[in-house]
Amino acid sequence: MTTAGASWKAAGAAGEPLPTAELIGWVRDASQRLTDLVADLDDGQLIGPRLPIVNPLLWEIGHVTWFQETFVLRRGLGEPAVIGHADAIWDSAAIPHDTRWQLILPSREETLGYIGEVTERVADRLARPDATRQLGYIARYAVHHHDMHTEALTYTRQTLGYPPPALPGAGTGPPAEAGPLPGDAEVPGGRYLLGADRGEQFVHDNEKWVHPVQLAPFSIARAPVTQGEYAAFVGDGGYRRRELWGDDGWAWRTRAAAQAPVYWRRGPGGWERRDFDRWMPLEAHRPVSHVCWYEAEAYCRWAGRRLPSEAEWEAAAIGEPDGAGGLASRRRRFPWGDGPVTAQRAVMDWHHLGTVDVAACPAGDSAFGCRQMIGTLWEWTASAFEPYPNFEQDAYRDNSWPWFGQRKVLRGGAWATRSRFIRSTARNYFTPDRRDVLAGFRTVALG
Ligand SMILES: [Fe+2]
Repeated sequence: MTTAGASWKAAGAAGEPLPTAELIGWVRDASQRLTDLVADLDDGQLIGPRLPIVNPLLWEIGHVTWFQETFVLRRGLGEPAVIGHADAIWDSAAIPHDTRWQLILPSREETLGYIGEVTERVADRLARPDATRQLGYIARYAVHHHDMHTEALTYTRQTLGYPPPALPGAGTGPPAEAGPLPGDAEVPGGRYLLGADRGEQFVHDNEKWVHPVQLAPFSIARAPVTQGEYAAFVGDGGYRRRELWGDDGWAWRTRAAAQAPVYWRRGPGGWERRDFDRWMPLEAHRPVSHVCWYEAEAYCRWAGRRLPSEAEWEAAAIGEPDGAGGLASRRRRFPWGDGPVTAQRAVMDWHHLGTVDVAACPAGDSAFGCRQMIGTLWEWTASAFEPYPNFEQDAYRDNSWPWFGQRKVLRGGAWATRSRFIRSTARNYFTPDRRDVLAGFRTVALG
């Protein structure tokens, strides 16, 4: 990448950039959330054990800030590095994952100082006349990179058994107890437009661009699979019955010695699950979380159902009926319509420090009656992560290219996803063995 602003804009969406004051607010907020998520941890917890699925937390908060500095200040404006050897510490493409625990990292105080310095410099540069036009896209990109990592820091705390994070605004969502939501929504078949519209204000490379696909009619669950439903699968020998698993899934199950979801154990009164550092009984009507794609696939086989393709998922979320038994050409922005994410419509932004019952948030229903498709948990789909036919790479090549063909697509966002990050066309992607991410799934009837 040689010039930043212009090339990023050319590769990006066609919509107007975010107003400067709002973008500066996001920059400060993203940085604050980053530091809030680790503020209560001691120095040992800030490093943590070497695991393939986590980063040392102290390294991660520095890396996020290094990314912002590198793309906005250094490449975008040609400014010198705040810390001379920063690339040797925090460049995730250059520093192998398992060596990050051996680095001599700046101290907590030095890292927090670096975060504060970069945040204020970026805010200052954005406030300069006409800066948003040049830097707006790349600065927003960096905010969303923060957003991805703050979600990851949240489930890293779950992985490592740390306490739930103390965050302002947590626990302010609507009540979590709302009960079950059984049954399917009927989605008509026809031509569906999959992917991001060119008029979007901001998209990631892998959402580009909208293109037609043909769908057969299908019946999709109105809600994700609950803990109670998943417990029935476990109780019916789900993890012991070879016929319920694909070859790769059975190999994974054997390797992982999996007998239940990763954070479940048998207690005196039945299954319990670990929520950060506390054990609690299952909540029967909340969605099952922290299951990998293989576990989702095995559950589907047991239930006589299947995972939706990502096109089916998206059509169920934002498609509309045409009134004549087919799909309309119009799509909604979100399942509930074109209005913004609110706490009544979706569980996001850590308003709940976890999931809610699947019947909660009726105001967020899609045109076909599917609930909580945005927020609560990312949902595994059957689809492999591949470029769309009209894919266009952004300046940050590593966002998608290295991962195509190796991962499965998840949709919808989770309770620790920022609402400013989510779109109904957003694609997340993990390898099918990941159980640490905030993921569940919903099922589709066999045709
Ligand atoms: Fe990163």
